[in-house]
Amino acid sequence: APKSSASNELQGKKVVVTAGGTREPLDPVRYLGNRSSGKQGVAIARAAQVAGADVTLVAGHMEVDPPAGVEIRSISTAQELQKAVFEEVIDTDVLIMAAAVADFRPAQYEDFKIKKTDGDPQAPVIELVKNPDILKSIVEAREQKTISALDLIVGFAAETGDGHTSPLEFGQAKLKRKGCDLLVVNEVGSTKGFGTDTNEVSILSSMTSNIVHAQGSKDDVAQSLIRLIAQQLKQN
Ligand code: CTP
Ligand code: CA
Repeated sequence: APKSSASNELQGKKVVVTAGGTREPLDPVRYLGNRSSGKQGVAIARAAQVAGADVTLVAGHMEVDPPAGVEIRSISTAQELQKAVFEEVIDTDVLIMAAAVADFRPAQYEDFKIKKTDGDPQAPVIELVKNPDILKSIVEAREQKTISALDLIVGFAAETGDGHTSPLEFGQAKLKRKGCDLLVVNEVGSTKGFGTDTNEVSILSSMTSNIVHAQGSKDDVAQSLIRLIAQQLKQN
């Protein structure tokens, strides 16, 4: 059978994909985390590799194994992710930020396990501080030319509507705010998005008002995204 065009459309390109969730430690045994399974990011890394790209997966905490044959760089916290992304994007054509990054981390890391005190009715209050916005800082670094290459920067957004604003409207606002080239918007609810094997996304672009819809297995969605990325790179 003839090979699909997907087998070479990213030939010669270097792609960095971030996937999975970050964990922000509180003490040696506890952390703040999130429900990201890493499945969609891993599917994207696989699809990029099948399309011929040289792929690095910057992997947070995931429920799935990374694909064979891609370079893996494991991270845990948002700050580690930021450092890894800035190191890995050197000479990279495409960055795909599928990782679920904690917006906040505990202000203090306790070196010893936090204990409850018998007879003390008070519960501790955890103070949080903001994590860096990695996607935004990468976009800024490209603007200021402190990093080279990076023809395409792709962000992800899991959105729910709020009764006034639809998930897509939130997505459009986020695309502008982040300044990335493509934003993959995922409508999340109790049954959609997290941990499942299927997905339904709308891909917004800063260059056109056309919206690309993709749905099916996470591999199907990954292939649609990779195809769009390949088209976009040709136009650049
Ligand atoms: N992201 C990032 N650094 C962060 C938070 C998010 O790089 N500290 C990236 C994510 O990997 C994703 C994109 O930014 O590609 C959008 O993440 P999202 O959480 O939807 O955006 P936020 O700006 O954090 O907005 P919200 O308040 O809706 O969480
Ligand atoms: Ca966020």
